[in-house]
Amino acid sequence: STRTAADEVNALLASYPDFPQDGILFRDLNPVFANAQAFKSIIDALVTRFSGTFDAVAGIEARGFLLAAAIGYAADAAVLAVRKGGKLPGTVLTEEYDLEYGSARLELEVGQLPAGSRVLIVDDVLATGGTIAATARLIERAGYVLTGVGVVLELAELDGRSRLGDADVHTIVSV
Ligand code: PRP
Repeated sequence: STRTAADEVNALLASYPDFPQDGILFRDLNPVFANAQAFKSIIDALVTRFSGTFDAVAGIEARGFLLAAAIGYAADAAVLAVRKGGKLPGTVLTEEYDLEYGSARLELEVGQLPAGSRVLIVDDVLATGGTIAATARLIERAGYVLTGVGVVLELAELDGRSRLGDADVHTIVSV
């Protein structure tokens, strides 16, 4: 097949007006994950784009976990789970962040990787950028180095990139 990862996403992406609340156009990537060829294509695209630049991949709850697991396996990299507040035991770092709707907390356990480890953050959607910006702060506070951000779908009108500083951001599709 000559379909690119972007072609796969554009073909399968579903949009739901007024979910989970009025005025939000919810983008559902589950049909991309549910299609074996499309899923392989997006994972391969992200692994290739960031090849050699990371020791660990940090997935953001919840759909970022799906990406991080596959990328970590394919790239022989460690996997970090960045979780919503209150889910992790032990010594955790916490960051508050604003969502397109509401606000929340993200957390990361300390001491999981050697200091200076190179980390790639992955998530399904980049909207306002609050979620990934908070994750970037967690990575840096934990003593790691953020070397890249990989996202399947970017909602360009929300300008999330402007909240990510000079990070190396790659998105498969921008709408
Ligand atoms: C969605 C999406 C990203 C985030 C992007 O997750 O999966 O993680 O919003 O938004 P932002 O760029 O404006 O911060 P959500 O918070 O809905 O959580 P979920 O993955 O647990 O459904």
